[in-house]
Amino acid sequence: MEKDILILAIESSCDETAAAVVRNGREVLSNVISSQIALHTLYGGVVPEIASRKHIEKINQVIEEALAEAGVTLKDIDAIAVTYGPGLVGALLVGVSAAKAISFATGIPLIGVHHIEGHISANFIENKELEPPFVCLVASGGHSHLVVVKDYGEYEIVGRTRDDAAGEAFDKVARAIGLGYPGGPKIDKLSKEGNPEAIHFPRAKVVENEYDFSFSGLKSAVLNYLNGCQMKGETVNTADVAASFQKAVIDVLVEHSVHAVRQFGFDKFAIAGGVASNSSLRAAFEKECAEKGIRFYHPSPVYCTDNAAMIGVAGYYEYIKGVRDGYDLNAVPNLKLGER
Ligand code: KG4
Ligand code: ZN
Repeated sequence: MEKDILILAIESSCDETAAAVVRNGREVLSNVISSQIALHTLYGGVVPEIASRKHIEKINQVIEEALAEAGVTLKDIDAIAVTYGPGLVGALLVGVSAAKAISFATGIPLIGVHHIEGHISANFIENKELEPPFVCLVASGGHSHLVVVKDYGEYEIVGRTRDDAAGEAFDKVARAIGLGYPGGPKIDKLSKEGNPEAIHFPRAKVVENEYDFSFSGLKSAVLNYLNGCQMKGETVNTADVAASFQKAVIDVLVEHSVHAVRQFGFDKFAIAGGVASNSSLRAAFEKECAEKGIRFYHPSPVYCTDNAAMIGVAGYYEYIKGVRDGYDLNAVPNLKLGER
């Protein structure tokens, strides 16, 4: 029997300090996440300086917990995978520095991982049979990408947002209707009490590329609707606004994704990123994919939002390809997918 490969993974690109141990790329032995959400909620969004400081306070503890929970020590670890971009530079630097320090002290190889590659790879954890090629929609707070996953670590972005990311739109609309940060889960919950057909918000098409997204017009339409109600002295049914907004986002994501899967001739489709944990979005994809004969994959909610297990999975596939980074590995806040 071949020797197991254990990856210690570290993620600190935004507001979660996370570490995990992953065996052979598909089995999560531990997945420790220290969330800063409660702290940033006070300010209505992520404050980069506070995020960096909190990562520094938490990182060593989170790594130690991940090793202890997995029942291993650094002696058992084959490589350290760390998110080095994209993200907040100060936040990324904490994870990258910790990973480099451990690697330098122990000689364990170091591998820098792209955050979006991590999100996509989250699908491999619970869907053991899933192998590339497939199409993946990555919808998070910072990204809305339609990606053709050609092979492990090989990607082609076929669609992207022209302005706001889907999660960003959720966060902005949530703030406008008084729900606070982070908006996605709150809109998801409130929508269940509202009528998604109550208000017709626009579904934007981008003429130059049929797979691209645009959410800023939708956000403005919601703000205009709220202003209009206020001027007319009408009370706003926030549940209806939430449900109608959410339906507009989901309609566009589903339509573009399914179109891409068929046009590019694939029969497998996956979702990833924080927005992928949205319950109505999952139900809509479930239905649409079943009708069109497309196999639909999604990670559990805990692997949709930021975590280190997904970085460990992506790191494993880089490791077996022979990718190694030196101690000059740096945080790259605007790192492009597929670039090293
Ligand atoms: O992937 P993620 O944790 O971090 C980034 O890489 O950006 O995504 C966070 C985003 C936030 O905008 C949050 O509002 C959104 O994902 N989100 C959701 C849900 N849970 C998180 N959006 C819609 N419905 C949800 N249930
Ligand atoms: Zn993320």
